[in-house]
Amino acid sequence: MPFNTPPLLGGELEAIRQCLGEGAFSGNGRFSRQCARLLEERLPVARALITPSCTAALEMAAILCDLGPGDEAIVPSFTFSSTANAIALRGAVPVFVDIEPDTLNVSPDAVARAITARTRAIFVVHYAGVPCEMDRINEIAAAHGLVVIEDAAQALGSSYKGRAAGALASMGAFSFHATKNIVSGEGGALTLGDPALVERAEIVQEKGTNRSQFVRGEVDKYTWVDIGSSYLLSEIAAAFLIGQIRSVDEINGDRLATWRTYRDSFLDLEQSGRARLPVVPEHVRHNAHIFYLLLRDEAERDRFLEAMRGQGVMATSHYVPLHSSPAGRKFGRSAGSLAQTDKVAGTIVRLPLYFGMTDRDRGQVIDRVRAFFRTD
Ligand SMILES: Cc1ncc(COP(=O)(O)O)c(C=O)c1O
Repeated sequence: MPFNTPPLLGGELEAIRQCLGEGAFSGNGRFSRQCARLLEERLPVARALITPSCTAALEMAAILCDLGPGDEAIVPSFTFSSTANAIALRGAVPVFVDIEPDTLNVSPDAVARAITARTRAIFVVHYAGVPCEMDRINEIAAAHGLVVIEDAAQALGSSYKGRAAGALASMGAFSFHATKNIVSGEGGALTLGDPALVERAEIVQEKGTNRSQFVRGEVDKYTWVDIGSSYLLSEIAAAFLIGQIRSVDEINGDRLATWRTYRDSFLDLEQSGRARLPVVPEHVRHNAHIFYLLLRDEAERDRFLEAMRGQGVMATSHYVPLHSSPAGRKFGRSAGSLAQTDKVAGTIVRLPLYFGMTDRDRGQVIDRVRAFFRTD
């Protein structure tokens, strides 16, 4: 039983054939623009830019908030390297803060305590597709004049108080990596809630040139006008992505059915204190990106992973907290206690969850998990 398999919906080959037939494969062609429009309408946001990855979208966001040497940006320690890399690549310092014990999302109180005269931005991560406490985060940011960036890598289709993740701050970054709910192999998007950022974002995406204005006929030649890089997705991957974006509700609905089956099957483990289940606040809708259990200690977590693998079920753990990673120690610093991060990183296990899991697949995972708790 794999941990994840990418969803295939059936229209992908035809879309790629169309793209090849049209003979235009480089970035920001009609397929990327269509993907962008679908996201702009869905979220809604002022502008979406289709990128080669969420990592690239986060790098663009760090450029757009003018992070530089001497600046700090606050980020949860419990996240993927990309969130902090974007900050470090600008020569700024990622400041690691703790997460909430319930949602595993960044703690607004820890963010508020970590603010210094050098702080410029707050990067939040909607862990497992469950949006962060954005009203509190945005309030804190407004009080200190900080930019908020949502790392919504895992959160397409999720919402907070009826508003979509990725449209809850000035910028959002999505991932379409093969392990996400909707995929294009590698791929991502930068979403801009703030229309004032659009013009510069187009330039940063196109290697620092005003090529987008040239393509629209607004200037008669294009030239190098700012820093930037090649943050474009190939049209072949964008053609693949269109059908995936259109099917996000179907895919998320299917994943939610598995997520709920897991939760209902393991409620007694929580009641008996054997494992903690995910917490989803009332005012939040999530996209079932991850189903996790928090076990009692690290030794039990290791035994669990080994037992699952021994029976052919790929369960996994993550993240090595960034504050204790080699690069985190070199480029960043910690602010306050990171006790929740350390505890969660040592006890979390994630169960197989992908589009199209059958009752039999789910049943197998549930049986193996229950067998572990019977014999352990
Ligand atoms: C929270 C978070 N941020 C960023 C990324 C990076 O995404 P990508 O692989 O699209 O660059 C991931 C991918 O796993 C992620 O989970």
